[in-house]
Amino acid sequence: MWNRKLRYAAAIVVVFGLFLIDGWGFIAKWNLGDVEDRPIVWQQLTPGGGIVRAIVAQDAECPIIRVNGKDYPMRRRPPAARRAFPPRLCEFPVTPGQDVRIDDRQFTRAGRLPKKIVVLGDTGCRVTYYERQDCNDAAEWPFAKIAKEAAKHDPDLVIHLGDYHYREAACPDSIGGCKGSPWGDNWETWKADFFDPAAPLLATAPWILVRGNHEDCERAGAGWLHFFAPWVQDQERPDPNCRTLTPTQLIELRTGTKNEVALRILQLDTADAESKYIDEETYQDWTTQLDEKLEKVDSEVVSFVLLHQPLRSVPFRKGTTPICEKGRVPVNKGESLIKTCDAILGLGKKLNRLTVFSGDTHAFQSIPSSSGTPNQLIVGNGGTKLDPETKFDVKEDARNRTYFDFGFMVLERSEEDGWKGQVYSAGGDLQLVCEDLSECKKPES
Ligand SMILES: [Fe+2]
Repeated sequence: MWNRKLRYAAAIVVVFGLFLIDGWGFIAKWNLGDVEDRPIVWQQLTPGGGIVRAIVAQDAECPIIRVNGKDYPMRRRPPAARRAFPPRLCEFPVTPGQDVRIDDRQFTRAGRLPKKIVVLGDTGCRVTYYERQDCNDAAEWPFAKIAKEAAKHDPDLVIHLGDYHYREAACPDSIGGCKGSPWGDNWETWKADFFDPAAPLLATAPWILVRGNHEDCERAGAGWLHFFAPWVQDQERPDPNCRTLTPTQLIELRTGTKNEVALRILQLDTADAESKYIDEETYQDWTTQLDEKLEKVDSEVVSFVLLHQPLRSVPFRKGTTPICEKGRVPVNKGESLIKTCDAILGLGKKLNRLTVFSGDTHAFQSIPSSSGTPNQLIVGNGGTKLDPETKFDVKEDARNRTYFDFGFMVLERSEEDGWKGQVYSAGGDLQLVCEDLSECKKPES
């Protein structure tokens, strides 16, 4: 009898002891993988220039960053929930034109006008309780292949249009295609869904990382804000909670010779735009911010607007409608969002060189400007399970073009002809050519 009691007491002491030591962390086996040997390093563009970030092992020091020949330690960026993101994230803000290096890697100077931009979106592997993609099969989930092919173009900017994280539920052991997949808003899932497959492309150029609706506060918002928020963290007061919307960003890129603004990129956070939980006041802030930014935009300069959900798309046969159309907007939150949509759509009348880039629809679509609305390009075919072609009325307007397979887009700028686009398959074959980023056509063979 006493023996049994002692055994129970000993077991309770051991379990309690482990809890004190590790706060139950001993249960989770985090896969740090490459981070143990070499940090994952990238640069993001921001209105102030850029932020260089590095993920290192949990107990490692932040790397030293060399800026204009002088060494600085990178600063820690603690996560809101340490248990979910155990590797150490480090960061350092940079300003336009600075020479920045970590070890042997030299970063593209922030603020420099790019010549070649890779655009992609909707890249994560979908594992939910209702649908499962074969994450272990490169043909079914080709994001790694796409990142590798896109990196071969040697871009000087990469734009991701959002939806990085799709593994929301555990994959049953009986389903081989996703067996063993991590899930939830934590380091292991971000590593599998984004950092591992994106590695070759992450190393080539600075990135602009748009927030998708899968990175809203109910899903992977905490992870997106930890890794990609466009601000450096105040270490005294780290962000305590997920934010429903982050401020609208206006990034201006200048020519090297005359130092003139030659490309404006307006980046909107619409992650929670369809949530019934956010209030009208939040939308009003968003509309006000957009108005302030739009005051600066003029017709002389090429402008890109980046937002996850398309403002226009090839018409749907039934079901979903573009975000700007009534019916998709939550009934009681609609007015400010509709106003914002109208403001962006109306920009087409003011700016003849404006293109809106979105994802969300899992396909490629180009919808050229008409009646003053801007060009809309949808590049949401980066790896996540595709939308079926039957969902869309593809024949309604002969000027629209669609590509219902996996792939990515490359934008190229030349002094004489301005910007043009090419749409590639996941395997790197050219599918469409888009003059002026407007009407896309099959390439002449
Ligand atoms: Fe998506």
